[in-house]
Amino acid sequence: MKKKLANLILIVATFFGAWMVSANPDAVEGAKLFQMCAACHGQSGEGSQNLNTPASAGQSQWYVKQQLNNFRAGIRGSHSEDTYGRQMRPMAAMLKDEQAVINVSNFIATLPLTNPKATLTGDVSAGKAFYGICASCHGAYGEGIAALNAPRLSHQHDWYIVRQIKNFKRGIRGSHAKDFYGNQMRSMALILATDQQIDDVTAYISTLD
Ligand code: HEC
Ligand code: HEC
Repeated sequence: MKKKLANLILIVATFFGAWMVSANPDAVEGAKLFQMCAACHGQSGEGSQNLNTPASAGQSQWYVKQQLNNFRAGIRGSHSEDTYGRQMRPMAAMLKDEQAVINVSNFIATLPLTNPKATLTGDVSAGKAFYGICASCHGAYGEGIAALNAPRLSHQHDWYIVRQIKNFKRGIRGSHAKDFYGNQMRSMALILATDQQIDDVTAYISTLD
């Protein structure tokens, strides 16, 4: 009996040990995997308006990982009108396992933040007033709040932010039954009633550092 118990503990410990090791990000593997991403997201993770890709440099590891897993599971990027999410989905599917997701998301988080240039002309002060509510989840500086699953918004392309807000409003993003956090953001996006309000709040976000 004692021996059986000892064996069981050994088995559990071995599995746990393996899990612990595999959850450790491998920086070299992450950098290698990122080469595939760089083709669209840029060598510095700066994103590209021509390729419709967001800046990913410096985005938090937990968020990148979550989105990659959402794409892999079809929770994001499977809506028939999600033109750009549908381009990203097969890329996420190319990551062979959870370890690869952890490696690449960790590498992305280590890239220095970039400074996308503003393309919008919104009313920054009107946008600031709207941003009050956003700040409660995304942080006063748009830095993101991990405990609320709300990502960094600062240092992101303004056209990408506008597109995501519109996608959330239309249910192209965040309406999947399993997209718990996307659902939360969807109800927030619906607060922005007009395109002008979306531009204004985004113009304000572009001023955050
Ligand atoms: C063929 C071009 C292409 C490649 C290659 C690509 N992506 Fe993307 N990715 C996109 C596009 C387009 C979007 C924008 C989707 C949208 O608008 O919803 C995107 C979005 C993302 C997002 C969501 C960002 C956010 O702020 O929510 C993440 C994370 C991401 N990509 C990570 C990666 C990683 C990691 C790789 C490499 C394994 C990669 N991408 C390779 C095109 C690409
Ligand atoms: C109740 C908390 C909450 C509030 C308030 C909130 N958000 Fe969000 N937001 C989230 C969460 C959670 C996500 C991540 C959704 C996901 O996992 O796909 C998100 C995602 C986003 C994204 C997508 C970012 C990306 O990289 O793709 C944008 C853009 C955004 N929010 C803008 C806003 C704006 C603008 C406001 C204010 C009008 C706002 N949010 C208010 C919780 C919130």
